[in-house]
Order: sequence, then C-alpha cells, then structure tokens
Amino acid sequence: MFDSLNALPSDAILRLIAEHANDARSNTVDLGVGVYRTEDGETPVLKSVKAAERQVLETQTTKTYLGSGGDPEFNALIQKLTFGDEVAAERVMTLQAPGGSGALRVAAGVISRARENATVWHSDPTWANHVPLLAGAGLTLKPYPYYDAEARTIRFEQMLETLSQAPEGDIVLLHGCCHNPTGMDLSREQWQAVAELLASRKLLPFVDLAYQGFAEGIEEDAYGIRLLAGMVPEMVVATSCSKNFALYRDRVGSLSIVTSNAKTAGIVRSQAHNLVRTMYSMPPDHGAAVVRTILGDAEQRANWVNEVKEMRERLQAMRTGLVAKLRDKAPDHDFSHIERANGMFCFVGISEEQVEQLKKDCGVYMVGSSRINVAGITPGNVDYLAESIASVL
Ligand code: LMR
Repeated sequence: MFDSLNALPSDAILRLIAEHANDARSNTVDLGVGVYRTEDGETPVLKSVKAAERQVLETQTTKTYLGSGGDPEFNALIQKLTFGDEVAAERVMTLQAPGGSGALRVAAGVISRARENATVWHSDPTWANHVPLLAGAGLTLKPYPYYDAEARTIRFEQMLETLSQAPEGDIVLLHGCCHNPTGMDLSREQWQAVAELLASRKLLPFVDLAYQGFAEGIEEDAYGIRLLAGMVPEMVVATSCSKNFALYRDRVGSLSIVTSNAKTAGIVRSQAHNLVRTMYSMPPDHGAAVVRTILGDAEQRANWVNEVKEMRERLQAMRTGLVAKLRDKAPDHDFSHIERANGMFCFVGISEEQVEQLKKDCGVYMVGSSRINVAGITPGNVDYLAESIASVL
C-alpha cells in the first residue's frame, strides 16, 4: 500500500539543522532554526527551569493522567500571563497544548468545526509552517500585505485596505510580537487601528504569541492581545513556551479561545477536548509542570523574567553589532532595518542565490528568504558574518 506514496522535500527550516550539523568547516555560522543561543553558541536549559525541574522531581507524587486539557493550574497561570486582567476567566477556554504548533492545530480544528471552509488571512510573509499547518487542518488561507521588501517596513495601509475587504466572520492571523520572519511589529497606534477594524468588520482575531518577552518585555509584548481582548467579543490565541522558557523539545504551549459568555466557553472546551482526544489524547506534562512551578512562585518567576531579559538584551546587542559591522564592511548598503526589527528574526534583504552562495562559500546558514536567527550571532563571529555578507553583495 505504501508504494503509492511519493517522497516529500523536508521542511526548509528544519533541514538547515542537519545541513549545518554535517558541515565540517570550523568557522560556520548557524542562523537557521529559531533557537536562542548564548555568546558561546549554546542553547542551555534556563537556571529557573533547572530549579523548577529539581522541585518537580522531588515533589511529584504521581504521573497519572491529567486529561485532554492538561494541567488546570498551568492553564490558569498561562491564561493570566497572556491576557492579564483583560478578560473574565469564565469567558475563556484555555488548554495546555504540545507546543505552539499543537495549539495552532487544535485551534484550526475547533474553527473548522464552528465554520466549515473558514478563511484565515495571514501576513505576507508569515512563519513557513503557518500555511501548511492550518491548511492541512482544513482551513482556507489567504495572504494580506505585510512586509515591503524594498522599503523594509510594514505595508500598513495595504494591510488595512485588504482586511477591510474581508467578509464578516473571516479570521485574521496576527503575530503577537516578534513577527516571524520579518521581525517588524505593529506599533501601538497600528494595533489600535487593526483592533478597531477587526471589531467593526466582525473579523475574528487569531493571534500567535510565540516570543512573549523577546521584544520589549513579558507584559509589554502582550499589548496587542490585551488590547484586542478588550475590544472584540471572541478571539483565539496560541502561545508557545518554546523560546521564552527555552523548553523547545519538551513541547509546551497553550490555546485560549475567548468567547462571549461562560456557556459558549464550556461548549468550546468540550469540542477542543474532544478534538485533542482524537488526535493525541493528552499533552505531555513535564514542561508544563515546570512552567507552572515557575509562574506560581514569585521568586522563581522573578528569576525567569530576568533570564528572559538577558536573552532579549543579547538579541538586541547582536542586531546593533551586526549593523555596525555591516556599515563598515558594506558602506554602500543600508542594513539599518536589522536594528529596527524585534525578537529572533529579520531578513537580511539578499536574494536566494546570495543565500546559497553564503552557505557554499562561507558556511553561513540562513533560510532561503534571507531570514536570519539573530541569536546565532556572537561577538566571536560577527566580524566574519559581516565580511561574508559583504562578499556576496
Ligand atoms: C522557527 O521559525 O525557526 C521556529 O519557530 C522553529 C520552527 O519550528 O520552525
């Protein structure tokens, strides 16, 4: 039976992990998949996570099942981290999911059940897995203009123009902060305008918050979500603990669906749990237990907030550092947009051929679109990186 299948190309982002690992050159630079790295190029377990893991190990008395929604305490804490006090808990269904991707997949399933052939508008460009993941779950995907590759800014007028034509009830996928892949985030005024448009046109906001804490701060980065939550009756939010808790492989995320009343929230919960039961039954516990332990204790939480701040500040410093070096090595080119971007990513703004050449000639790895993971830059490789980029211009 399986003879009928055709081989598929591997995922473009994940493929870079293997390609880089197989490159024997000693001076390679890995700016591919979005994981945080220290100045030494390591992706360590956070100290706050290690401490919480020890605590979980010592105090956990059972590993019995928790159910399709995961840990209720985790759900309450992550809901608060996402929405603050902006919505009454009874109106929100929150469940623990296997990573942000798991949350997106469950969201897509619930949306499909609520409305067959629902249309989701996504930014052009967006995270490379958004479209296959959501389309694979039965949703129709359409792009709205977002990034102007020439001007290296957000095409805000065109974005609003396109969304204002979307039929009532359509869904609009937004990046909560640290837009992946461009790093270009909406300003507060722009969030306001988007929120007003969605509310007046009765479009459903669907926010992906995968980098909370990496732009301005934990609370600050929830600005758009909290603004929307105060203005619309219903919304969907997928969050990830992969980056801000550095729990990547442990798969921790959450899905929240805000509804207009407690009764609907209960119905949505039953649908979401039913979907989970038929897909993976229950989410893994360990990472969520760690997050719950950290968020539930003031001191551990403060330690974690500090670690997120350290990661954020290193990313910002590397952006500034790279732009300064490029000014030096390629004075005829303007790379200042790299510094204006938030979080882990931005485009360098070079062609796919130049990206290939960088890989082949210099051992510098980035996604074909020229998206770089800024966390791969270190004080030790920034000179070489700037020289390499300058050499292909
Ligand atoms: C990325 O965009 O590199 C990360 O979100 C990791 C992934 O799963 O693609």
